[in-house]
This record gives sequence, structure tokens and C-alpha cells, in this order.
Amino acid sequence: MTKIIETIAPHGGHLVNRIATLAERDEFLAQANKLPRIQLDERATSDLVMIAIGGFSPLNGFMGQDDYERVVEEMRLMSGLPWSVPVTLSVTEEVAEPLKEGGWVRLDDPHGRFVGVLELTQKYRYNKAHEAVNVYLTDEEAHPGVKVVYEQGEINLAGPIWLLQRDNHPLFPNYQLDPAQSRKMFVDRGWKTVVGFQTRNPIHRAHEYIIKCALETVDGLFLHPLVGATKSDDIPADVRMNCYEIMVENYFPQNRVILAINPSAMRYAGPREAIFHALIRKNYGCTHFIVGRDHAGVGDYYGTYDAQLIFGEFEPQELGITPMMFEHAFYCTITDQMATSKTSPATKEQRIHLSGTKVREMLRRGELPPPEFSRPKVAAELAKAMHQ
Ligand code: ADX
Repeated sequence: MTKIIETIAPHGGHLVNRIATLAERDEFLAQANKLPRIQLDERATSDLVMIAIGGFSPLNGFMGQDDYERVVEEMRLMSGLPWSVPVTLSVTEEVAEPLKEGGWVRLDDPHGRFVGVLELTQKYRYNKAHEAVNVYLTDEEAHPGVKVVYEQGEINLAGPIWLLQRDNHPLFPNYQLDPAQSRKMFVDRGWKTVVGFQTRNPIHRAHEYIIKCALETVDGLFLHPLVGATKSDDIPADVRMNCYEIMVENYFPQNRVILAINPSAMRYAGPREAIFHALIRKNYGCTHFIVGRDHAGVGDYYGTYDAQLIFGEFEPQELGITPMMFEHAFYCTITDQMATSKTSPATKEQRIHLSGTKVREMLRRGELPPPEFSRPKVAAELAKAMHQ
């Protein structure tokens, strides 16, 4: 009897694969020196990879004007499918001017390495302030996502892409799982329900608590930290990966967790990015996705639960992945356990919760965050990294 593969369908129904075949690659390499060339920044490079491996299915390239404008206005692609964040390749007018629509463009990474090809179908202007206000809900340049939009070029280049080849991640090759692989692993493990967890921070006890609450009701956890570009004061990915390994080895049942890297860049778009993060995890095969307090937020730009409320703007079946929402978690000193206001009688003063800034300050002073906030082995690893 053939085994029925039961995993959730990718967004749009089909997992995109835009990694060049050997024959395509040979053809691209043969033309490498003749093609017009543009240099991608770190974010565009990770977007290229995400498109190619199917993490951004159904996108098969950088967005054309119709898709872009509908995404900015209505959080939908032209097909009507939900999509909340523009995936665009922006260049200056000087760079765009000589490029011909209908031709191939060679894409180099920030180190000048030939990494992909764009079949240029369209060049178009876009309105930066309009994108900022709609996607990031602010046009302040102090917002790290808005800053990127304002600093990038004024012309978007659109069209399907190919990734020249799928290289191993230079730092975390053992944790590189592409959507086709994670989907297969979930099936092989017999997991019918899998919850995805997005993070750009070392896992503290509030994270651990909401993950474990979710894990009580699903078969497996896909621990999927983002390792693409983040803002400079976020903790570097290599330090975080050590902390994730410590968490999985010491504080989780290992057979119920798969740790893998998410190569995307952070946008800090709060609510809109929560939808984007959920759709990415759907492509990796997750059936559920955790959204806690101020998901993908920065500063005070978004309300604590705005990233949860936005899910109400879509029909559950059109997203196709189920959000698992959690209130702000903290350590309750009355009941001596992690909790939220839904389960704890503690007053504000009886709760232990530290902000990321506070933790960084403590570490800088040589103090360890308390065990109510961070597992001691993780705190020790952070302290070690801080003083290297
Ligand atoms: S994020 O930018 O990736 O969202 P972070 O790594 O801090 O930042 O958060 C990962 C996930 O944990 C998000 O869903 C976030 O909402 C959630 N989260 C973080 N801290 C808490 C907390 N104290 N209580 C509840 N949820 C939290």
C-alpha cells in the first residue's frame, strides 16, 4: 500500500522550486560575463533564497507592480491569496536605466558572488511613504523597517528568479532544512500537527512557556529562529543558535522538537509580519503558528496584541495555518510558575518580566538575568558571548 503523505498544502497549493537545474546553471554560467549585473543587499539575497526554496510560495520571483500595489493596499496578491509584506527588488534609477525588460539580469550577493538570475519582466516606480504607512503603520525613519525602504532605490525590478545553486549556510549547515525537507521530516515522524515558532531572540522562559503550552496540544515543535538580517542591537544569530541548542538539549523532549534556521530577514512590520511569518511556516509544513505579545514589533509602534487581531481580517481557510495566540507571559511569584494574566492572580508588582534592553544592561554590568527570567545555562551562554 502506498503511504499517504499528509501535510498541510503550501500557500497557493504548490511548493515553488526555483533552484536552477544543472543544465540551467551551465547556461547561466556560460553567460555570466555577458549579462548585466546588479548587486543584492543582504535582505534581497535572503529573499532570493526564500523564493527559490519555496519558503515564499506562491511567489516565483520579485513582485510586479500589480501584486505589489494590491499587497500594500489590501494584503492580497492579484490572485486574491493573502500576502501581507512586499517582496521587491529595489535599485536606483541609474542601475535600472540600462536594464531591458525581457532580458536576464545577473544577481550578485553582497560579496560579489554570482548567486542568481532575474528574468526582468517589469521596472516600476513606487511610493515609499505609502508603503511605509500601509505596511509598517508609520513613516518615521527611526523605524528599522521603514529606514530600509527609505534607503533603497526608487525603482522596483520584477520577474521570476533562479537561484544558481543551493549552498549550505556558512555558519549553520547542520540546521539548514528547506521546506521540502521539513515537510518530509514531519511526515516521517508521523506528526500530523506541528507548531512553528518564530524568534529573533534567545529563548527566555516566557517563550519557553508559550511554546510548551502549544506543545501540549500538537504533535511537534518546529523551532524556527530567523537568522537573516536583523537590526544591529539584536543578539547575533550565532550566539542565539548556541542558546537554542542548550534549550533543546536540556529543557525539551528532543524527539518532539526540530530546530532549523529561517534564512529570511526581519522587517519589524509587527502585525503584517505576523501574517507573513505564519505563511512562511505554512510553506515549511507547519499546521499551527505561535503569535504572542507584540510579535515582530519594535519600540512602541504596535499595540501589544495587534499582531493577533490582524488574523481576524482573513477567513481561517484562506490563511490555512492556525494561529495559536498567547498573552504576555511572566513569572508569577504567587504561584511560583510561569503564567499569564489568564492563569495568575499576581498583581503587576508580583510578576517578574524583563525587557530585552534591561537584560542587555544586566549582562553588560556582568550580572546574570534571574532564573525566573532565563534558564541559567542560557544566561551563562549569553554572559560568555557578551564578554568575548
Ligand atoms: S519576534 O520579533 O520574533 O516576534 P521574539 O523572538 O521576542 O521577537 O518573539 C518570538 C515570539 O514570542 C513572538 O510570537 C512573540 O510575540 C512571543 N513573545 C515574546 N515574549 C513574550 C512574552 N513575554 N509573552 C508572550 N509572548 C511573547
